[in-house]
Amino acid sequence: MRRPLLAANWKMHGNCSRVQEYLDTLIPRLDACPAEVVVCVPFTLLPVAAMVATGSPVAVGAQNCHWEEEGAFTGEISPLMLTELGVSWVIVGHSERRRLFNETDETACQRAGAAQRAGLAVIYCLGETLQEREEGRTLEVLGQQSAVLDRLDPQRLALAYEPVWAIGTGRNATPEQAQEAHAFLRGRCAALWGEGAAADVRILYGGSVTAHNAQALLAQGDVDGALVGGASLDVEAFSAIIRTAPCA
Ligand code: PGA
Repeated sequence: MRRPLLAANWKMHGNCSRVQEYLDTLIPRLDACPAEVVVCVPFTLLPVAAMVATGSPVAVGAQNCHWEEEGAFTGEISPLMLTELGVSWVIVGHSERRRLFNETDETACQRAGAAQRAGLAVIYCLGETLQEREEGRTLEVLGQQSAVLDRLDPQRLALAYEPVWAIGTGRNATPEQAQEAHAFLRGRCAALWGEGAAADVRILYGGSVTAHNAQALLAQGDVDGALVGGASLDVEAFSAIIRTAPCA
């Protein structure tokens, strides 16, 4: 069985004292936790997060990285800069990056490949817009977005199905809608890497996950965890979501 993976995406929130307090509260709660937990914070908070989380069950993640090791890329951060800090995960291809910063399937895949080569594990996000869902094109869009994944290593990869219409809106996908998309994505993984690798890849759901809806979503056969935005900022809410993870 796949070990559940619960990832917090703080987006552009927080400060040093807050992340320290948050991890000091969260870490002791994870002693007998069946799930793997990753906390993805803004770049500037990574050193303190990595320091506090050292030797604990919490892994620290970034929210983006560049595809080159170094170079003239003002404002960018390379995967090696992240690993040097003790960061082990990175989110790539989030819909906010795609929508607001012109990220494409191609650039997301380049970032993810570079991250993996540097030793990072990647949470690779994909998902349809409301218009695409209403036009009945959800699976077609997921098929297109996932076409680039054959260039990645399935071993250090989790997919995050995040319907754009569910992110930060308070309107989550139903467990059935999530399961349909996840099963489709697992089928794509099987086509790209074979049944064995597809059975091992964790596919997270993201989009307005709360302590109230997490259990039903995580109970679906192909939903292996969650990428949690807004609710992850509150350590009590994120802890409650972690507790809904089925035992591995
Ligand atoms: P949300 O964000 O939980 O606030 O909807 C999820 C995400 O963007 O990863």
